[in-house]
Amino acid sequence: MNLAGIDLLAKAPLAEGDVFLGGRWLPAADGRTYPVHDPATGELIRHVGAAGPQDARAAIEAAQSAAAGWRTTPARRRSEILHDTFALMREHTDTLARLIVLENGKAHRDAVAEVGYAAEFFRWFAEEGVRVGSSFGDAPAGGYRHVVRKHPVGVTAFVTPWNFPAAMATRKIAPALAAGCPVLLKPAPQTPLTALAIAALLAEAGLPDGLLNVLPTDRAPEVVSAWLGDDRVRKFSFTGSTATGKVLLEQAAANVVNVTMELGGNAPFVVCADADVDAAVRGAMDAKMRGGGEVCVAANRFYVHESVAAEFTEKFGAAMAAVRVGPGMEGGVTLGPMVDQGAVDKIRSLVDDALARGARIAAQGSMPDGPGHFHPATVLVDVPDDARILHEEVFGPVAPLTTFTDEVEMIARANATVHGLASYVYSRDVGRALRIAERLEAGMVGVNRGLLSDPAAPFGGVKQSGLGREGGREGIEAFLETQYIALDWPN
Ligand code: SIN
Repeated sequence: MNLAGIDLLAKAPLAEGDVFLGGRWLPAADGRTYPVHDPATGELIRHVGAAGPQDARAAIEAAQSAAAGWRTTPARRRSEILHDTFALMREHTDTLARLIVLENGKAHRDAVAEVGYAAEFFRWFAEEGVRVGSSFGDAPAGGYRHVVRKHPVGVTAFVTPWNFPAAMATRKIAPALAAGCPVLLKPAPQTPLTALAIAALLAEAGLPDGLLNVLPTDRAPEVVSAWLGDDRVRKFSFTGSTATGKVLLEQAAANVVNVTMELGGNAPFVVCADADVDAAVRGAMDAKMRGGGEVCVAANRFYVHESVAAEFTEKFGAAMAAVRVGPGMEGGVTLGPMVDQGAVDKIRSLVDDALARGARIAAQGSMPDGPGHFHPATVLVDVPDDARILHEEVFGPVAPLTTFTDEVEMIARANATVHGLASYVYSRDVGRALRIAERLEAGMVGVNRGLLSDPAAPFGGVKQSGLGREGGREGIEAFLETQYIALDWPN
């Protein structure tokens, strides 16, 4: 498929099939397909090939055959291909953003931002890939030398979510390819088209056949079990829920596969008494509403100092009430539909539970007429500590507000969760903000910032939010093995 095929992806099944395997576009081995729907209308976008275990095994073969050549390809050449993919993604921003809106539903401006974010992983890891160092040193006891080398870990398998169909794929693909590893990718069933488009761009940039294999499917367990059950697969990276992550960790244990897990969050957003409330409101809108709140680092619960609670609630409520909800491509829309009806039902049940326990709706945006999986932007106040919404990931545009007076007690409430992905602190006193940030049990903290995701920074969580880091200098390490060679060398 050439670049024109990206447009085709959205419109009709490709004649040659849409499982990308060994550099070819193929139908699923058993001919099965499944439907992909537009969450703004519920309408069918198109049927996509549904890969099964046979395709999964063929993808391992293709990846394994390509591995040796890629491992010995100079890092500079690998880097050039990633750089060219970065440039192609930027050139095709509009098409990619339209695909993301079509299958994920997010507002167009969020989709454009995602394409930029996703492309940056190729640029960052094109730069990191040429700096993977080895070392040669003296053994302290004398008489020999330590040679420490970094090798690509081998065939890597990825499972990515629907909330960032481009960025969660490139955050894994780019460092793996930069490190010299072939890739097997199973995108989320709801959003396979963007991943297929990225595969087309990598092929266009000159990626040799077999190094990226994309297997859309609605029968994930069969594909993933085939990968995790094959000892040629040496690295597994998953982004998704903690519950699914635990199941996959157990499966990966059988072959002692190296894993990276980017799991659920429950981010606290803290507004201190000395915060710049206007800045905190802007940050809260970013942290809560990016991608419609369907984001694992989204602010999930708000701890606002009692002295600024009225002002914050009024200003944040006004901003949330003004959010225009509708189909992501419609002008002025900043909140698209949720990905499916199940997502809407889960959000509603959390809101209903909070209301039943005494919470109130302080502000709510409007809803569009007609079909689609929409939920209005909503601010809840007087939310009691036992409400489910403070303990479960909302993954939607609802902000539960609680207040505090004592910093130590607030930190204890914020840390009373099994999750530890992101958190946010607003204070004019940087010393105070840093003190709180260091005490929050989270892999990432935004201080006076509602946006913290950055390809050049290590993304990941503590506790049950995950294992390992993606992005930053750490991101490529996940795809490298360290080998130590003891070299006899007389003094
Ligand atoms: C996620 O929601 O899984 C990732 C969000 C991000 O990269 O900012």
